[in-house]
Amino acid sequence: MTDKKILITGGAGFIGSHVVRLFVNTYPNYQIYNLDALTYAGNLENLTDIENASNYQFLKADITDADAINTLFEEHQFDSVIHLAAESHVDRSIADPLLFIKTNILGTINLLNAAKAIWKDNFEGKLFYHISTDEVYGSLGDTGLFTETTAYDPRSPYSSSKASSDHIVRAYYHTYNLPVVVSNCSNNYGPNQFPEKLLPLAISNIKNNKPIPIYGKGENIRDWLFVLDHARAIDVIYHKGKIGDTYNIGGVNEWTNIDLIHKLCEIMDRKLGRENGESAKLITFVTDRAGHDKRYAIDSSKLMKELDWQPSLQFEEGMEKTVGWYLSNEKWLNNILSGDYEKYYSKQYDNR
Ligand code: NAD
Ligand code: DAU
Repeated sequence: MTDKKILITGGAGFIGSHVVRLFVNTYPNYQIYNLDALTYAGNLENLTDIENASNYQFLKADITDADAINTLFEEHQFDSVIHLAAESHVDRSIADPLLFIKTNILGTINLLNAAKAIWKDNFEGKLFYHISTDEVYGSLGDTGLFTETTAYDPRSPYSSSKASSDHIVRAYYHTYNLPVVVSNCSNNYGPNQFPEKLLPLAISNIKNNKPIPIYGKGENIRDWLFVLDHARAIDVIYHKGKIGDTYNIGGVNEWTNIDLIHKLCEIMDRKLGRENGESAKLITFVTDRAGHDKRYAIDSSKLMKELDWQPSLQFEEGMEKTVGWYLSNEKWLNNILSGDYEKYYSKQYDNR
């Protein structure tokens, strides 16, 4: 008996694959559909352990293709959507803003329209859950935290495209009563993250004795959350979140980039049997990211108090697990490093 038909978009990506696995394994009575275009960031190898589960189906489609999306909604009659598909890397958004506008804004509107069309005005048991980022709030000074009522002030093409999609999702709630919920999360880390992002890029470079590029002086601050704790928060918000509400999700775990990389280097030295301090010699300061946001930090007290969510892992434990995963999944990493990613890497880092 299927209780729910849930469409998860972007399920072949980093966070999406953890959300898909959590839902497939925890809720055998839910039918989980993973819709993904398999861009450079989408990788079905992330899901080999559950690909044959009877409550799982993969649908290859592009959210910017309205006809394809409408057809899939009509065919499968999803009764909820957890929307993660997006272009997600700030540096790529600086190089190609239009792609981010298309995927993150147009793609989201296509999904909203498709849901609205099949649900008509019968919204009983329906939900459109939009996954967003803390970057929509802009950049903090030395103190303070982003709350759910912090005014939006996005600075990069990526964050402004996500901010725009958040506004449109809320507009569909206010204008058409579409049942929506939004969450804004801080930086995730963990297994399966594409190696263009700071931590997996540094792990990969340390392993291969390549320079670790640190933008500017490494003084920018991020709030890190283990990816499975984000997936658990999504589960809780999906089931218990209040329609029309927003929930911030964070790790209460702020690090400057340089301190974070030193911590990583210590772990890598130990795991690779190197002398203490050897990996840190690879740290190389490079030209800063344009418009680099200084500090992100999230106040998740609403989620903690109202929906009883807490991060489950200590940061040390999460980092050990993450490094351990990358070191024992060389094939996963090498498949990426040997493909088109090489060209991106040279363009992004040569002559920086
Ligand atoms: P990711 O880049 O690893 O994965 C994105 C997935 O979306 C990929 O599988 C890709 O193939 C798919 N996709 C991209 N364009 C598509 C399209 N046009 N049609 C269908 N699928 C498409 O991203 P991630 O880091 O897993 O982030 C997932 C979501 O969570 C994003 O919406 C992102 O904004 C948000 N988020 C990420 C973080 C983080 O730290 N990574 C933090 C907060 C919020
Ligand atoms: O805060 C949530 C966001 O976190 C998500 O919405 C984004 O999808 C996700 O990519 C992430 O954005 P960041 O820009 O914070 O992540 P990134 O890993 O690209 O960079 C983390 C920090 O490290 C940032 O201050 C830039 C810096 N950095 C990054 C790279 C790739 C470097 O110093 N060197 C690098 O090579």
